[in-house]
This record gives sequence, structure tokens and C-alpha cells, in this order.
Amino acid sequence: GKSGYDHFMLKEIHEQPRALRQCLRGRVDEMAGTVDIEDLADLSPSGVQFVACGTSYHAALYGAQLFRDAGIPAQAFLASEYATATPPTGEALVVGVTQSGETADTLSALRAARKRGARTMAVTNVVGSTAARECDHAFYIRAGPEIGVAATKTFSSQLTALNLLALGMTNTQETRETITALRELPGNVQRILDESNAEEVAETYENSDAYFFIGRGYQFPVALEGALKMKEITYKHAEGFASGELKHGPLALVTQNTPVFAVVTGDGEQARKTLGNVKEVEARDAPVVAITDGQSEVERYADHVLELPETHPRAAAVLANTHLQLVSYHVASLLGRNIDKPRNLAKSVTVE
Ligand code: F6R
Repeated sequence: GKSGYDHFMLKEIHEQPRALRQCLRGRVDEMAGTVDIEDLADLSPSGVQFVACGTSYHAALYGAQLFRDAGIPAQAFLASEYATATPPTGEALVVGVTQSGETADTLSALRAARKRGARTMAVTNVVGSTAARECDHAFYIRAGPEIGVAATKTFSSQLTALNLLALGMTNTQETRETITALRELPGNVQRILDESNAEEVAETYENSDAYFFIGRGYQFPVALEGALKMKEITYKHAEGFASGELKHGPLALVTQNTPVFAVVTGDGEQARKTLGNVKEVEARDAPVVAITDGQSEVERYADHVLELPETHPRAAAVLANTHLQLVSYHVASLLGRNIDKPRNLAKSVTVE
């Protein structure tokens, strides 16, 4: 059942701290500052190609960046576009990110990769799913069953699992720092669930013409996911952009009636640049909702702030997404949408 929640989606959003603890359990040796995953230790791919659809594709974009940061060439492909990818070489690993393990586009991309001689891996939630059975390796995200059609806890668990995967196969200076951030993640997600003012933001903007989401680096996939969640469950127009792309066209869409959600973390180069993009939006009188740890000046240009704790940008992505899940949920709820079963959508898409 829904354990007292109005919708499975809200229940599953609130299950995230537990899901993330399950994902991490037994896989991190904190004393040694290492990630130990049996089965992965002997994998040292020359490159990684991710294939996935929808929300899982956003996780794949994030995962590819993790590997690139660790010095391994990596790219994310929409599974339905994998035919256009450079064929993987023998030492490449092709990773299908798929909650259900049954998505036809993803299965077909994985089969094509295997036919070309690549080693394959499923990052999935469902033990014994087709992807898990057909791939050479299966890495389980352990989120528990997800009933709501909109992926929520499984996205957070995918991001967490992909961190473990990257740490388990590579060894960088950032390993210890990331491990600390991952250990703190379940508690930090709980704090967001307890304290987020997402409902107030939803009430302010429930009647907007459109919703835009911007982010850079690890926060770019979060912007895409924020927009996808908003369209799926509210049926409103929403788009996610890389912050820097705004001025290359989308800025023409920005008005007083289109709030822009900007994910800005840290106070480095990326934050400074995104801040510049936020100023452009603010100058066009669009409402700005900053999802931020307060390290940059972005709050000065924001109409609303969804607060993040100071943490590693990789962990901040999960936390920012939690706020955005809640904003979409509350907008959909105010509009009276069928949140757990949005029109025209199915939980598992088994046709190409
Ligand atoms: C969005 C959503 C879909 C799925 C996509 C892939 O909330 O749920 O975009 O992410 O259909 O599904 P899986 O991960 O099962 O391959």
C-alpha cells in the first residue's frame, strides 16, 4: 500500500534515504577509503559506452561524466540512437542503465553491442530481469519496487550506484572525498525531505506557462530530469538546458510567466558561469528559483531558494533532484493530475 501517502510517487520520494543506504550497504570500505565490489575488480575497460532511455539516460549522462573525471573515455547514448555510435572496441564496456531491465530500446542496444564483441553490464533494479540475464555483468541498484510510473527513488539509486561503479573500477584522488559525500547522502536527502519549501514554490508557480531548468556539469542531467518529471506528471511544458545553452536560443522563450530553476553549487568556475546565465534570465524578468548551497551569489538574483547543504557536486545532484521531484509532485497535485499513472505512459516500455 501507500503507507499513508496520497500517492506511490510521494511514498517513493520519501523512501530515498533507505534506498540509498541499501545501495551503499556492504560496498564501501570506509576505513580503507575504497569501494569493494566483487566481480568488478578485474574490470578495467579502455572506454565505457552507456545506453539508456528517459530518466535512466539522464543517470547515464551523469555516469559518463564520472568515468571521464576518472580518466576513462565515456559517453552516454540514447539507446534508440545507439546505431549511430562508434562501434565499441574489444576492451570497451557497454553499460545499459535500466530500472526495469525490460526496456526494448535498451535491450536492443545491449544486444547490438554484444554482437560487436563488447562486454556488457546491466545497472538495474530488477533481479533476474532480461537485461540482468543477458549481460555479462549485473549491478543492482537495490532501490526496492517502484510503483509510480515516474521514476524517483530509482533515479537517485542509479546515480549512487554509478558512483560506486566508477569508484570500484578506477582509483582517483577524489575517491575518499566522494565516499564521504556518499556516506552522508542518505541523511542529507532526509533533511531535504523534512525541510524543503518545494510546496510553497509549487503554489507560487502552479499556473506558469512553462518551466525551465538549467545546470552545468553534474547538474546538467539534473536539469534534464527536473524537466522530464515536470512534463510527465503535470502535462505542462518544461525543458531542461545546459546553463550555457540558454543564450543560444532558449532565452527567447523566457518571460515573466516561465520560472527558471537554476541548480548552482560550489563557488568555482562552473558556479560563476551559471550565475552569469541566471543574471540574463533575471534581466528578462523571469522568476528564478535557485537550488543552491549558498556558496555563490545566486541567492541575490533568486525569487525562491531551495537550499542544499555544502557537499560534493556529485552528491549535490541527488539532493537538488530531490527538491525538484517535490516541486513537480506538488504542482501535479495542485492541478489534480493522475500522478501515479500519467496519461499515455507505461512503467515499462517493451516496444522499440
Ligand atoms: C521517467 C521514466 C522513463 C524511464 C524509461 C526507461 O520517469 O520512468 O523515462 O526512465 O522508460 O526505463 P528503464 O529505466 O526501466 O529502462
